[in-house]
Amino acid sequence: MKYWVAIPAAGQGQRLGSPIPKQYLELAGRTVIEWALLPFLLDARCQGIAVAVAAADSRWHAVRERIGARFIHAQGGAERSDSVAAALDALARHGADPAECVLVHDAARPCLTQAELDALLLAAAGHDAGALLALPLADTLKREQRAGGSPRVAATEPRDGLWRALTPQAFPFRIALEAYRNGVEGGFEGTDDASFVRRLGGRVVWAPGSRWNFKVTYPEDLAIAQAVLTGNEPCA
Ligand code: CTP
Ligand code: MG
Repeated sequence: MKYWVAIPAAGQGQRLGSPIPKQYLELAGRTVIEWALLPFLLDARCQGIAVAVAAADSRWHAVRERIGARFIHAQGGAERSDSVAAALDALARHGADPAECVLVHDAARPCLTQAELDALLLAAAGHDAGALLALPLADTLKREQRAGGSPRVAATEPRDGLWRALTPQAFPFRIALEAYRNGVEGGFEGTDDASFVRRLGGRVVWAPGSRWNFKVTYPEDLAIAQAVLTGNEPCA
């Protein structure tokens, strides 16, 4: 199945707190965004990749030169959803076929494997509205009660049937474009792509993802990603 890719890469990485946005930090000899792009660059089914970077970005140019591939440029926005919408619009201007598939993948997720990518594409091929990679929740869930000082446990929530949404998420390009155009216009604040598609009624399915396909978010995630990328089981 042929597909296109939209990469939101315009975040500042506030939770990680590095002066360099996390997608440009180096791990195992490559920047995080290079690792995130690699499975698509190695895949003949990939027709083109749009990367949405911040207006003030000063690093993407050098990374792109080092990779030596062609990318479709988009200017990211204030929220992830604005950046995804911009990347999808750039793909449309580029001439991506609405009947083909688009994958949305975080620039901050460097450990996607080819096996997960294959499983996602297989799931998406069999369903009208698309598919995402997801992981079942492992820990017990607590709801907090904020009253005065430190938060207390208000309740234990059932975790049956709850999954963590990962990326990539794959949709027919026509559906993703409509969902994002409509969602951004309507002020919808979804934090993943499937929520935009669901908002228009699409029933998205999931394929099981890997726990190593996590989003680099906090400083300690860097050591884990480094260990995964160098082929070692993380010991922490
Ligand atoms: N992203 C984006 N545009 C934004 C915000 C986020 O393109 N305005 C991208 C990030 O670059 C990242 C992905 O969306 O690849 C997932 O977002 P997140 O992990 O939240 O990254 P940041 O927003 O950079 O981090 P933080 O929320 O800690 O500031
Ligand atoms: Mg963010």
